Amino acid sequence: KKWTTQQRYAPYGSYSAETLAGLIRAQRNSRWHLSFHIQPRSGLLNDPNGFTYYNHQWHVFYQNFPYGPVHGLKSWRHVTSPDLVHWQEDQLTLEPRAPYSTQGVYSGSALPVNDQLFLMYTGNVRTTNGGRISTQLGAWLNQDEQLTASDLPLITQPSGYTPHFRDPQILHVGKTYYALLGAQRADHQGQILLYQADAVNGPWSLVGPLDLGHADLGYMIECPNLAFVDGHVVLIFCPQGLDRQRIPYANIYPNMVIVADAVDWQNARLVNPGPVTNLDEGFDCYATQVVNGPDHQAYAISWLGLPDTTYPSDREGWQGCLSLVKALHVVNGQLRQTPVTIPAATSHFEPLRDTLKGREVLTFDLNQVPTGKIALGNGHEELALTFDGQALTIDRRIAGEPVDSDYGNTRKLDLLPGSHQLALWLDRSSFELFIDDGQRVASGRIFPHFDTPWRVTTALDTPVQVTGQRLPKL
Ligand code: FRU
Repeated sequence: KKWTTQQRYAPYGSYSAETLAGLIRAQRNSRWHLSFHIQPRSGLLNDPNGFTYYNHQWHVFYQNFPYGPVHGLKSWRHVTSPDLVHWQEDQLTLEPRAPYSTQGVYSGSALPVNDQLFLMYTGNVRTTNGGRISTQLGAWLNQDEQLTASDLPLITQPSGYTPHFRDPQILHVGKTYYALLGAQRADHQGQILLYQADAVNGPWSLVGPLDLGHADLGYMIECPNLAFVDGHVVLIFCPQGLDRQRIPYANIYPNMVIVADAVDWQNARLVNPGPVTNLDEGFDCYATQVVNGPDHQAYAISWLGLPDTTYPSDREGWQGCLSLVKALHVVNGQLRQTPVTIPAATSHFEPLRDTLKGREVLTFDLNQVPTGKIALGNGHEELALTFDGQALTIDRRIAGEPVDSDYGNTRKLDLLPGSHQLALWLDRSSFELFIDDGQRVASGRIFPHFDTPWRVTTALDTPVQVTGQRLPKL
């Protein structure tokens, strides 16, 4: 079904309760329903929003269009967790409303302020002549989970910039509040704008574009946000239209990271920024949100999906899921991402003999970069890790129904000579590969049928030690 603009922005009230119930059922009964990842209750999920620890639990909201697998009228839906592993969805939503978010509540972040949680997000309005108005808005969540959206625009589009102005990350540093915003300069250069305020509800003033130490990062930057990690600053952002010759990446749009020593807030610049690198080298990872928890430990969660992309689950009326939560560290100036683990694996199993249920973590210890293949699958369907002595290629071309992508269904990762460890987390329709203790990550969606049981088979020129654990349904 092709969705017209009018259909995408039709008010929620125009849908029947039966339509919604049918979409919820289709998601829940899907063969691709995930066991331990955040997924949409119905319709489309995209960015994680408002990732925070507040009132003794973790909060994540996700961007949701509840009525189909397309980027329609967006709201935030709320999920909470005691431990970053077990997630539970409730009925709390932040929904579009006139006049500032009539065509969608877009991405944003959350910050505990006194005993409440402050949410800052982008209100999206489409004008009749096809234009756009973006306004940064605020809302308060109290300890009884009551949400009060303020109708006060906190930040409006600055002069010299286009209406592509969204996705605030709000931070508290010393006595000052800061907000980072994704923006597009009038000459179509992607920028991150830094704002500051003495109080979260304003007045907010523009400090300036954040100097990343790298220019020409494409025509738009979405979802900029940063965390403090082991004495460094980790800045994560999604540049669109970035030149692949200069900074290579494989997906339609990348999710990039810069590790710097600090932020010079007064002068809006990163201090001693490192290179721009891919946060994830797989197929589907975008709009990652980072947060410093109460213990100062930094965590990240990503959308395992991409803008302007269709997936096989679309025909069931739903799309998208979030990643595992990843704990962040910086070791020797380099980012490490390690999944926050699922504690009670129901059983150890023999991965070479036992059947995969599609919720396992498998680890492969390689003494050197081998030649040959590790396959997870049944021959008809398989997710393959192939090696040529120098590189690992992840191949999802026959891992079930193919993702129809102009950007290919293989990803090649060069590996340094020597030993490597791979940890692959499988959850029905997602995989997340952590290489060498999270020095590199490659994630993606797969759409297998599992009708003929899956196993692990290895055909390599050198021995590999394989261990596996089955993961519980959460
Ligand atoms: C990123 C994004 C954000 C925007 C949101 C809308 O995927 O385009 O820039 O706020 O999605 O759903």
